[in-house]
Amino acid sequence: MPLRAKPSTILTAPPLSVSLLNIVRSTLLGLSITVLLSGCGGSDGSDGSDDSASSTPSLPSDPNPPTTPDNPEVDTDWQPAGGNATISADVSRPFLQIMPNLPSSALGGVSPGRELFITQWTPANEGRALFDGVGPLFNANACTQCHSAEGRKPVYAADGVLSDAILFRLGDQQGLAHPYYGEQMQHQSIDLSIATEGSVRYAMTAAHGETPAGVQFSFTPTDPNQPLGNMAISGRISPQLVGMGLLDLIPEASIIAAADPDDSNKDGISGRVHWVEEGRQQHIGRFGWKAINASLRTQNANAMSQDMGLTTSVFMDPNCTVNQPICWTAANGGSPEVSDSSLDAVSDFMTALAVPERRTGDLATFNKGASLFAQVGCAGCHTPKQKTGDSNRFPLLSQQTIYPYTDLLLHDMGAGLDDGVKEKNAESYEWRTPPLWGIGIVARDPEARFLHDGRANSLTEAILWHGGEAEAVKTRFKQLSATQKQTLLTFLNGI
Ligand code: HEC
Ligand code: HEC
Repeated sequence: MPLRAKPSTILTAPPLSVSLLNIVRSTLLGLSITVLLSGCGGSDGSDGSDDSASSTPSLPSDPNPPTTPDNPEVDTDWQPAGGNATISADVSRPFLQIMPNLPSSALGGVSPGRELFITQWTPANEGRALFDGVGPLFNANACTQCHSAEGRKPVYAADGVLSDAILFRLGDQQGLAHPYYGEQMQHQSIDLSIATEGSVRYAMTAAHGETPAGVQFSFTPTDPNQPLGNMAISGRISPQLVGMGLLDLIPEASIIAAADPDDSNKDGISGRVHWVEEGRQQHIGRFGWKAINASLRTQNANAMSQDMGLTTSVFMDPNCTVNQPICWTAANGGSPEVSDSSLDAVSDFMTALAVPERRTGDLATFNKGASLFAQVGCAGCHTPKQKTGDSNRFPLLSQQTIYPYTDLLLHDMGAGLDDGVKEKNAESYEWRTPPLWGIGIVARDPEARFLHDGRANSLTEAILWHGGEAEAVKTRFKQLSATQKQTLLTFLNGI
C-alpha cells in the first residue's frame, strides 16, 4: 500500500536552497538507478501521538521557557538532510534507495550488493552457488525480511506471536554470552536434523504512572535441558537503514570531541565512546543499538553470521557454539559462504544508501520545533548536524553536511531501558543514540514501533521511556505545554 501524506507532512520539496532543488531534479533524472525495494508494512495514518497539528501560525509565548545550562544556539539554515545522498521523501518506498547522482562508473558493487541484499538465501548445495549457505541456524533468509524499504516491519502480532523481524540477544551484565545458545537466539534451522534453539513470545505490560506500557518476553527452549538460566534475553527490532555510508564516514575525532564521559560541562549528559576491537585495533563502535560494530563491513558480516548463518572471511565459523556439536556437522555453502567480493558488494550497497529529505511543512512551526528540541535538551544526544570526512570509494559522500540526529555515543538510559545484557563494552543500561532521520516517515505507520525492543508505540511513548542521562530532558519535555509538545513532534515527524 502506498504511503499517503498526512496534511501535516507536506511531501513537496521545501523551498530551501538552490542546491536542494538541484538534488531533487537530479533525483528524478537518476531514477533509473534509484532502487525501490519491496517489503511489507507501511500504511496510512498517524503514529498515535499528538502530532496532528499542521501549521500553527504562531505559538503563545511560554511563561517558563525550558532552558538547558548552555542554552544551545539553533541552526535553521537547512541544507539537504543527507548532503549529496539526499533523495525526495515523496516516494512510496523511501528507504533502501541508492543515493542519486552516482555515475555508473562509480557504482562499484552497489547493484550486485542490492541483489545479495534482497535475495532469499538457500541452504548449501541447492544449486545457487552465489546465494547459498544460509544456516544451519538462522533468524531469516533475506536481509529484507527484517529491513524494509517502507519503514519498520511489523513485529508484534496477535496472541503473543512475534514476527521474524525481531531478534534476541542473550547474555548477562558481565558480558558473558549463553554457553549453549551463544550471543543470539536463532529460531529457525535448515532441516529437522538440526534443532532450532527455541521460540519467544511476548506480553505487553501495563502502563503505570507516567511510564507507558512495556513488553516482556518469554523464551521456550526447543531442548528443555538447555534453559536460559540466569541469562537475560533482549529484543531488538530492525532499524530502517538510512545514510549508513554517511554515518560510517563521520570522523572518529568528531565523535571523540563530543564525548563527555565525566560530564565535565555538568549538563547531566555524559556520552562516551564505545571502543571496540576490530582488526586488532581499537575503533569506535557506531552500528547497532549498542554500537558494537565499528565499520559497515563488519556490521554486515555480523548480520550475515548471526542473523542468517552465513560465514565470511570476517566470521569464518558457523554460528554454532562449542556446546552444539550437531550444528557444526551441517553442510556448508563454501568456506567462506559469502566471498569477499560479495561482502564488499553488500557494503557498497549499504554505503550508497540515501537519506530521505526532511518534510518541513510550515517552516516557521518546524523551526520552532527545532528550537524546542534543542532547548529541552534532546540535541544533547541526538546531535542535529555532523560532517563527513573523505571517502575514496564514493567521493560524492566526502565532506558532506548531514543531519542524522545522533552523536553515535553510548548513554546510560536508566533502569527502565536496562536489558540485562552487556555487549562488548556497552553496559546493559547503555545504548547508542539512534539516528532520527526518517523517523517521522517510520511513524506514519500506526503500527510502527520504537526503541530497541519496539516497546514504544509512538514517538511520545519513546520519549517517556528515556531515563538515566536523559531523565532531566524527559522532565523538561513533560513540562512543555500541549502546543509546544505538538510543535516538537511536528519537527520530529519532519526530520
Ligand atoms: C533477523 C532480522 C535481520 C536480518 C535478517 C538482518 N538484519 Fe540487519 N539488523 C537487524 C537488527 C535487529 C539490527 C540491530 C541489531 C542490534 O543492535 O542488536 C540490525 C542492524 C543492521 C545495521 C546497522 C543499523 C544501524 O542503524 O546501526 C545494518 C547496516 C544492517 N543491519 C545490515 C544488514 C544486512 C546487510 C543484512 C543481510 C546480510 C541484515 N542486516 C540482515 C535485523 C536483521
Ligand atoms: C542522554 C541522551 C539522550 C537524550 C537527551 C535524548 N535521547 Fe532520545 N534516545 C537516546 C537513546 C540512547 C535512545 C535509544 C534507547 C533504546 O532504544 O533503548 C533514544 C531513542 C529515541 C527515540 C526512538 C528512536 C527509534 O529509533 O526507535 C526517539 C524518537 C527519541 N529518542 C527522541 C528523543 C527526543 C525527542 C528527545 C528530547 C525530548 C530525546 N530523544 C532525548 C538518547 C537520548
